[in-house]
Amino acid sequence: MTSPIIIAITGAAGHIAYSLIPRIASGALFGPTQRVALRLIEIEAGMKPLQGVVMELHDSAFHLVESIEITSDPHVGFQGAHWAFLLGSLPRKAGMERKDLLSINGKIFVDQGRAIARHAASDIRVLVLGNPANTNCLIAMKNAPDVPMDRWYAMSRLDEDRARSLLAHRVHSHSRNVTKMAIWGNHSSTLYPDFEHACIDGKPVEEVINDRTWLENDFMTQVQQRGAAIIAARGLSSALSAANAAIETVRSIIEVTAENQWHSVSLCSDGSYGIDPGLISSFPTRSDGKHLSIVPEIPLSAFAKQKIKTTIEELREEKAMVTHLLPQ
Ligand code: LMR
Repeated sequence: MTSPIIIAITGAAGHIAYSLIPRIASGALFGPTQRVALRLIEIEAGMKPLQGVVMELHDSAFHLVESIEITSDPHVGFQGAHWAFLLGSLPRKAGMERKDLLSINGKIFVDQGRAIARHAASDIRVLVLGNPANTNCLIAMKNAPDVPMDRWYAMSRLDEDRARSLLAHRVHSHSRNVTKMAIWGNHSSTLYPDFEHACIDGKPVEEVINDRTWLENDFMTQVQQRGAAIIAARGLSSALSAANAAIETVRSIIEVTAENQWHSVSLCSDGSYGIDPGLISSFPTRSDGKHLSIVPEIPLSAFAKQKIKTTIEELREEKAMVTHLLPQ
């Protein structure tokens, strides 16, 4: 048995965590033999419900869970952490865009970035889900200048999986048969789901779904608005699917990507495809199991370039809204 991986989770009494923690504890993320030490972080007001979650974790007697610690102090919670899942933030309500949360949630990520820089393990990697995830990730990363920029990720896999499912449904196929479904840009209503390079059963989507009007309109809008549709239906934002996408994101980073596949991860742009270096943008990525890289040289149509320009413009606007939280 290898030594436990220390995993810090903020917003640990929240509804995404309630779906995520048992999956990590049961080995769905790091495999059936890897022990995990859980550091569950909550604000003071969430400590009582968090104690209830801990009672349930004990009652589950997960054989991979080495230890469970709870704290409201990020300086304690991130101590020695190898992976951090930043879920804690105010979720949006019906009628809001995710960026409307920036003024409330942005500052949380300043302290978390600083605490990660001071206390986490030297190989820390961070996945941000709290919205607006891309810009919150940028804030945390900028407040942790000693942590290399390639260790910071925000989640766009949920958008990819939504898109794969929609495409499969349209042709009575299965989402497992939909490959290379990249999301570009922001996790927001401007995201660009790149159907021009996606495949169903190995064939280009546009060959299988011979309906460009549907792809450019209904399909794109449904992917962009799916989070809002779930809030309208549940009265709460996505949790089960968000937790699943968090698991799949980390797996796509630490496991070798299958041939003829790529996955969407938001990471720090290196200037690829003309996207401003330093912005946290979703790209198609591939992993060799150790290192995650942006897939190079995908030929982009004028349509795709226009859509990517729009979503990157929004990321720039969000960055401009939080310059006071970004140390120079
Ligand atoms: C989602 O996409 O479901 C989440 O980001 C929650 C939201 O506000 O849409």
